[in-house]
Amino acid sequence: MGMDYSKIIDWIIAEDSFNPETLGKCEAVMSLGNGYLGLRSATEEHYLNETRGMFVAGTFNKFDENEVTELPNAADLIAVDLFIDGERFSLDSGEIKNYTRQLNIKTGTLMRSVQWTSPKGKQVDAKFERIVSLKRLHTIAQRITLSFADDVIVKVRSGIDGTITNTGSQHFSDGDKRFYEKKYIQYVQTTTQSGIGFVETTAHELKLDGSTLEAAAEIFMDRRKVYAGYTAEIKAGQTFVIEKYSNVYTTRDKEYMDKDIHEIQEISLNACKTDIQAGYDVLASESGAQWDKEVWDKAPLSIEGPAIDGFAGHFAQYHMRLMVPGHDNRMNIGAKGLSGEGYKGHTFWDTEIFLLPYYIFTAPDTARKLEEYRYLSLPGAHAKAAHNGYKGAMFPWESAWLDDGEVTPEYCDVDILTGKPVKVWSGFIEQHITSDVAFGAWQYAVISGDMDFMDKYGYELIMDTAIFWASRLEEGEDGKYHINDVVGPDEYREHVNDNAFTNYMAHWNMKKAIEYYHILKENKPDIFAKLNKKLGLEEAYKAWEDGCSKIFLPVPNDKNVLPQDDCYLSCKDIDLDKYKKQEHVGGITRDYNLEQINQIQVSKQADCLVLFFLLENEFSQEVKKASWEYYEKRTLHDSSLSLSTHSVLASDMGEKALAYDLFQKASMIDLGTFMGSSNAGIHAASFGGVWECVVYGFGGVRMLDGKLRICPALPDEWEKLSYTIIWKGQKLAVEATKDDVKVQNLTGTTEVEVEINGEICKL
Ligand code: BGC
Repeated sequence: MGMDYSKIIDWIIAEDSFNPETLGKCEAVMSLGNGYLGLRSATEEHYLNETRGMFVAGTFNKFDENEVTELPNAADLIAVDLFIDGERFSLDSGEIKNYTRQLNIKTGTLMRSVQWTSPKGKQVDAKFERIVSLKRLHTIAQRITLSFADDVIVKVRSGIDGTITNTGSQHFSDGDKRFYEKKYIQYVQTTTQSGIGFVETTAHELKLDGSTLEAAAEIFMDRRKVYAGYTAEIKAGQTFVIEKYSNVYTTRDKEYMDKDIHEIQEISLNACKTDIQAGYDVLASESGAQWDKEVWDKAPLSIEGPAIDGFAGHFAQYHMRLMVPGHDNRMNIGAKGLSGEGYKGHTFWDTEIFLLPYYIFTAPDTARKLEEYRYLSLPGAHAKAAHNGYKGAMFPWESAWLDDGEVTPEYCDVDILTGKPVKVWSGFIEQHITSDVAFGAWQYAVISGDMDFMDKYGYELIMDTAIFWASRLEEGEDGKYHINDVVGPDEYREHVNDNAFTNYMAHWNMKKAIEYYHILKENKPDIFAKLNKKLGLEEAYKAWEDGCSKIFLPVPNDKNVLPQDDCYLSCKDIDLDKYKKQEHVGGITRDYNLEQINQIQVSKQADCLVLFFLLENEFSQEVKKASWEYYEKRTLHDSSLSLSTHSVLASDMGEKALAYDLFQKASMIDLGTFMGSSNAGIHAASFGGVWECVVYGFGGVRMLDGKLRICPALPDEWEKLSYTIIWKGQKLAVEATKDDVKVQNLTGTTEVEVEINGEICKL
């Protein structure tokens, strides 16, 4: 009982039973959205353990000085309370039959149906449908269809509820509340610190056996609440339909920034009227068509093999569309997308390393926006560098609004030994994010061929970050430059020196800057002059050369294992069996505190392995294999970013069965049967990881030193894998079977050079 995979062939993920204790799972994994707004799939009626959530990308607010800025949870628009002959419709009581809740990821529609008998014996067949339009970014539409076994009086109570908080932190001041024409309900809120106005409008349409029911609304206004009440007399066998049309607009929306709130109120009201005129079916079908146009036709992915594998790929694509604010370059992707309060809507390295490849290869315009966001947030990165006594751009580990700078919370969780909150060091010393950003910009530009991006933003990003690294290096007694006191990707190791990932990526960053210095000087003197003035390239160049020649780059030991940092390999080994077999992540943190974990050879997630993945050509196959084996044994995959990297590298090593096993595990992080792991929101990066397992791992795609390589190796369970990728503006269709691969240039306007299974081909 729980998740139901019987309809995945029809692109449907379902839940087959109602459990009021595990509501968070489907609220998050079945959430709806369009990158502008994200809506958790909470039910129409209320339950004790529900977490309602609606988030509008980029609308950050800081609740008070003791908290960091976060994405506020906006007033709820989707609740509808129903009373049948005075009894509240609630699955907490009465009798439930034929329950299902399901999300169709192809069309982005949520549906729930149930036959419910109330405690007093009233029977109702209820169906609830909902969409967030992919076509009209502000629109939410719902339809509730009810039919009864007896004659009943149904009361409906529904409107807008502004008592919603982020787990207690109320981010909004109450504003205008209004009924127009006794039908349209409008509520205005303003975020308390960032001053962003939110306008929400909703209205209902009631229908009895297909004819509009002109029931007059009783109207209510309460503290932070505006709602309507309707009463309808329904005869046995009649069909009663309640449609609810809602929208949200904010003063942060690019197209409404220069309008005052009253104008936006009018826009919102009119949009609600237009949506009602269109009607639920039209809104749903045009949104479904948009899903085809934007996602399924544009980036087809098909696996001939176990149906769940193909579904997992599509489920990843579904969520990657929900989470990405492709409409606005001032925003980025949150670690939980727009599906929950977890990680406060903040952006991490998850974007560049795990998610960006999907967008670059399938929706380069969107990818460009994600990297423009980094460029636009340079002021925060400069402030962080200056604050820490460094030069250049030091990107925040967690990032929110453009000029916020570092927003990582300082404390989280509890130290099991001291009982005090655990200090989060990432915001201070998890510094690899800076080269990850540079790597992302480079990767985007090379794969897309977008030189305009490089001219306007890319060179500067790479050089400004390289300036940071040159200033960050510390000269050791050995005459080498070290990077001490950091957290690498593996967050179970704090305050380490010479984390291999950090050092190699810093080296890469400075080397790239040197390369671009020459390219600009020789070929693009205008840009060179501009950046020279802005960044002082001549001086920076000397520091990069010096940095590159003296930076300490850890070398593999005699067993070919690359030391993750200067002390990992000399820490003690303990029996990790219990944690390796754990059903839920984080078991070790309930037995040891972080200081103790630091003394153990144990990893939360892939660390050196991410390095092998990004800089594949710099390490030998022997080193990769030996290191994979050494670290995997000690890795608990306590971060959702870990399994996919392991799977891709296992594919690279020719370990197909292992790669497949890890892929399956990675794809079940949110999709799987564990009902507790997604409460705070889905794991955004893990979806990018799933796509990487399929297209990079089994599909064999990689951009290496600026060149495209395709070298598929399908798992035994698959007959065929087909996908498309866009390489420098040319869309390539790849069809791989166990012993053959066909690549076709669908665009065909320029020739593409690609290495296919070791052979250079021109398409
Ligand atoms: C991981 C980080 C990741 C963050 C957000 C943490 O648990 O250790 O690598 O960036 O989650 O997804």
